[in-house]
Amino acid sequence: PPSVPPPTKQRVSSVASFSYPSLSSSPAKIPPFQRPAQLLTFSYNAEHVLEFNDSAMRYFVEPPRGADLGFRYDKWIKRPEERGRLDGLLTAWSKFKKSLRPSDSSCSTVSVPNINVMTWRGIMTKILVAPYDEMDGWELNVMLVNGTFYLEEHLSNAKLKDKDAMTPRNRLQSYYGYAFESYCTSSQPGGRESRASDLQDAPGWGGDVNTNVQWCSVVKTKLGDRRIVIGGEVDCVRDSYCGSTDNFVELKTSLSIRNASDEARFEKKLLKFYFQSFLLGVPEIMVGFRKPNGQLTTVQSFRTVEIPRLVRGKPGKWDPSICLEWGDRFLTFLQNTVQSSSGREVWRVTFEPKVGVAAEMLSDVEVVDVVNGEERVGFLPRWYWDEVSV
Ligand code: A3P
Ligand code: MG
Ligand code: MG
Repeated sequence: PPSVPPPTKQRVSSVASFSYPSLSSSPAKIPPFQRPAQLLTFSYNAEHVLEFNDSAMRYFVEPPRGADLGFRYDKWIKRPEERGRLDGLLTAWSKFKKSLRPSDSSCSTVSVPNINVMTWRGIMTKILVAPYDEMDGWELNVMLVNGTFYLEEHLSNAKLKDKDAMTPRNRLQSYYGYAFESYCTSSQPGGRESRASDLQDAPGWGGDVNTNVQWCSVVKTKLGDRRIVIGGEVDCVRDSYCGSTDNFVELKTSLSIRNASDEARFEKKLLKFYFQSFLLGVPEIMVGFRKPNGQLTTVQSFRTVEIPRLVRGKPGKWDPSICLEWGDRFLTFLQNTVQSSSGREVWRVTFEPKVGVAAEMLSDVEVVDVVNGEERVGFLPRWYWDEVSV
């Protein structure tokens, strides 16, 4: 049979037209950031199936000092790296919208707000910390459907493979973070479930790590004039869950600080810790400091809102207002650049550290794809696109 050439993708280039921020002075005008309001929560179960319940929610418990964060590393059920599709977030948002419009009553409808941007918290964090990102850069896929921008991370096949094939050392270090979560959490409020006797060599162990299990919160917020819906994982709650983000706790690990340069490195890391939590309205970050061999040394709780003041004037200093102003200009850039006539176009937006942002349309033809039996329009699930594209 004659060989069919692969479909060619038309590339239309458009160059970024906004300037890199100065890191030496605060912007004259800081766009306001609205306090995030939670819309709903959901869980991914042990098989990573989305459930509309709080079964994956965990309560914070004090971890034992000296805990071994490498404990039961061989028992880790690791979720394979995958493309950061928006499906879970879109499923939740769709459910939330329907809850505002009960099908059985036509009179008491609450209007669904127009949302300008919908994405995962990790993407918003990457965008906001970009002025201070000297290393990594990122690529996003962007669609504009009926006035809403959808942003997902673009991972090339090569990058995805890289991410999955971690070096043994990176894999173990990543496990330390999850093991810290295990020691710090319980599925019972105020206590730990009784432990199997064969695990008494690790007091306080909260159960083997299965990274399929996640508890997620979806919040609505605003940066400048733009309404944003963000979904993100919440590590645990303190004392009780009252349906809001007020008791949320983010868990983080970091190498113990031994000297001034360690301290500066930690201050720099606090930028990501800060925005990751700030964006979802998480008020507390519990940092577990560990030795290089994975032994927990100390824990320290930070109030998210106080972190910018802690780093002010320090060697590892940063200014969150620079990030917010840049983030607002980034979204303005998207609005001015990304055009969509059919709502099916996919754009690629690239950030290169110290250089800036560029955007191009990947294809101006219909992108309808069946991947693993799931039909997509662009990168959005077909069912969702059908719901919103009218
Ligand atoms: P630490 O942040 O304590 O290192 P999160 O902090 O967002 O709740 O993520 C939980 C853990 O997932 C992290 O714990 C880290 O171990 C692992 N992790 C998160 N992002 C990662 C990445 N890009 N590469 C490797 N591991 C990652
Ligand atoms: Mg987490
Ligand atoms: Mg965490």
